[in-house]
Amino acid sequence: MSQSVALRTTFDPAKYVRPAIHHLPLYTRDGAPTEKPAREIRLDWNESPYGPSPNAVAAIANVAAHNRYPEFDAWKLREAIGHYAGVPAERIVAGAGLDNVLETLMYLLIETGDRAIISEPTFMVYELLVRGHGGTAVNVPLRQDFSLDVPGILAAVDEQTKLVLICNPNNPTGNLFDRAAIERVVAETPCLVAIDEAYAEFAGESCLDLMAEYPNLAILRTMSKFAGLAGMRVGYGIFPESLMPYLLRVMPGFCNVSAAATAAAIASLQDADYNRAIVARIIADRENLADQLRELPGVEPLPSATNFLLVRLPVADAGPVVRELANRGVFVRHFGNPAFGLLDCLRVSIGTIEDNEIFVAELASVLGAREPAA
Ligand SMILES: Cc1ncc(COP(=O)(O)O)c(C=O)c1O
Repeated sequence: MSQSVALRTTFDPAKYVRPAIHHLPLYTRDGAPTEKPAREIRLDWNESPYGPSPNAVAAIANVAAHNRYPEFDAWKLREAIGHYAGVPAERIVAGAGLDNVLETLMYLLIETGDRAIISEPTFMVYELLVRGHGGTAVNVPLRQDFSLDVPGILAAVDEQTKLVLICNPNNPTGNLFDRAAIERVVAETPCLVAIDEAYAEFAGESCLDLMAEYPNLAILRTMSKFAGLAGMRVGYGIFPESLMPYLLRVMPGFCNVSAAATAAAIASLQDADYNRAIVARIIADRENLADQLRELPGVEPLPSATNFLLVRLPVADAGPVVRELANRGVFVRHFGNPAFGLLDCLRVSIGTIEDNEIFVAELASVLGAREPAA
């Protein structure tokens, strides 16, 4: 649009945009390197380096009718997920990634004045979504050892509390919480407790079976991590039967899942052998990477039940190290909020063996070039 043509009227977005959005922080990637590096190794978003089952790739190519909407209630997709998870399709809501399912959940539960309990450091999207819907994200921080503060969570729940969100295993710390601790939160909380199991396939553990005993539990999962389908955007939630009549009213048409993503997800779920092999490979590579990192002086990878590692570095602030790695084309994450207690850490996704080797070599070189921490 030409800049030389003067606008004929005025428009003041601040007047129309909901107040809850005005002060919402941006959810972005860390700063881009000053110059585009010669090669890029993306280990910052916990993606699978291997991609989906070849059957999923073929299924995407075979989607014929791009002019037609997918099934309105995404039934075949929900059925395939139900079969995979061992739950009735009637209790599943799918979405364009788990982010979209979380959004649907907030739309269902949170309005101005409501509270949702989170335990930071955790997945940042929770706070943004709660605040974006006019609610307050009440933080009951993880303990020093990254365990859940169960008494703190229970004490924080009040009449306005609509939701407790637990990320298990937790992102970015990588640890699994004690199952009894989670069960106590579910058992002693009247509101919905949603457990984000985005990384469950790597952990080999789930709280899904607790749904048989507790009517206020939801389990949230994604095809982005174990199935290598982050680009297709498919996530899902398994919800209490009693919530489904309400959820069906807010579930987006077609679940917001495209025909291509639907085909990919169904084909991927049917290729359990491929998914199992990839998960096993990533876990083995994670342990190898941890061993290599432990050989660097002062570097401490923390135990992980996911496809990433949180790594303590022998520096007070890992931010400059992460930026220098980005300048060298190796992208990892830093969590700069001092309240999280992770200033000296970086988070690295498990890549291919070659990616991991380059990361270790570049990290060793960057740390070697720095003064050791006092
Ligand atoms: C804990 C957690 N939940 C949800 C998501 C979002 O997953 P999706 O790609 O399905 O939106 C992520 C992605 O990194 C995550 O780490």
